[in-house]
Amino acid sequence: MQNDIRWMLGPEPKHLSPEWRSEVLELFLVVNGEKYSDASVSNLPIPQWGGNLLLLDGNDTSNPKCLKGLLWTTPFKDDIVRVAAFSISLELQNKGLGSLAWNHFVDCAINAGYSKVQLEVKASNIRGQDFYRKRGLEIMNKLEGYYSSGLGYMMRGDLKKY
Ligand SMILES: CC(C)(COP(=O)(O)OP(=O)(O)OC[C@H]1O[C@@H](n2cnc3c(N)ncnc32)[C@H](O)[C@@H]1OP(=O)(O)O)[C@@H](O)C(=O)NCCC(=O)NCCS
Repeated sequence: MQNDIRWMLGPEPKHLSPEWRSEVLELFLVVNGEKYSDASVSNLPIPQWGGNLLLLDGNDTSNPKCLKGLLWTTPFKDDIVRVAAFSISLELQNKGLGSLAWNHFVDCAINAGYSKVQLEVKASNIRGQDFYRKRGLEIMNKLEGYYSSGLGYMMRGDLKKY
């Protein structure tokens, strides 16, 4: 892995500049196959904490083009945190970077008093489901109408490192 690729704490989405938000939209489109609006990204209630991570490639971290991935999680209710988005550029997948971010998030969430994690995933995204299943999450519900492209699942499990 190259040394200049690293996860960094991110700002709240509403504090990202339009140029950065446009890179986020591009990532969601290319990696997750989902088209979102600028407003839907800036309205995401992701606080500044250890579960808000941006994957950056390059020395000039002021350049939005260095954005290669993100993990956005948010307190949900009671002792549950929700993963709102997890996305890594295609060329950087399968190198252990997702696991690094996941473990950092899990540590921070447990330290903050959370014990469970939940998220939504497309039924067609078998690899994503495998990633989460190996980390202790299980499919709890089918989600009809949540994704425009088809069926989804809600997954939930105890927060634990893989
Ligand atoms: C799901 C996702 C975030 C996982 O991130 P990732 O960086 O690809 O995942 P990792 O490389 O950490 O782990 C995946 C597998 O890669 C392999 N791997 C882990 N470390 C590795 C390394 N250093 N070198 C090579 N392979 C490695 C392992 O087989 C690992 O499998 P595991 O689940 O048994 O640990 C990423 O693949 C992604 O963005 N996918 C598309 C969007 C998506 O599905 N998002 C989630 C649902 S919304």
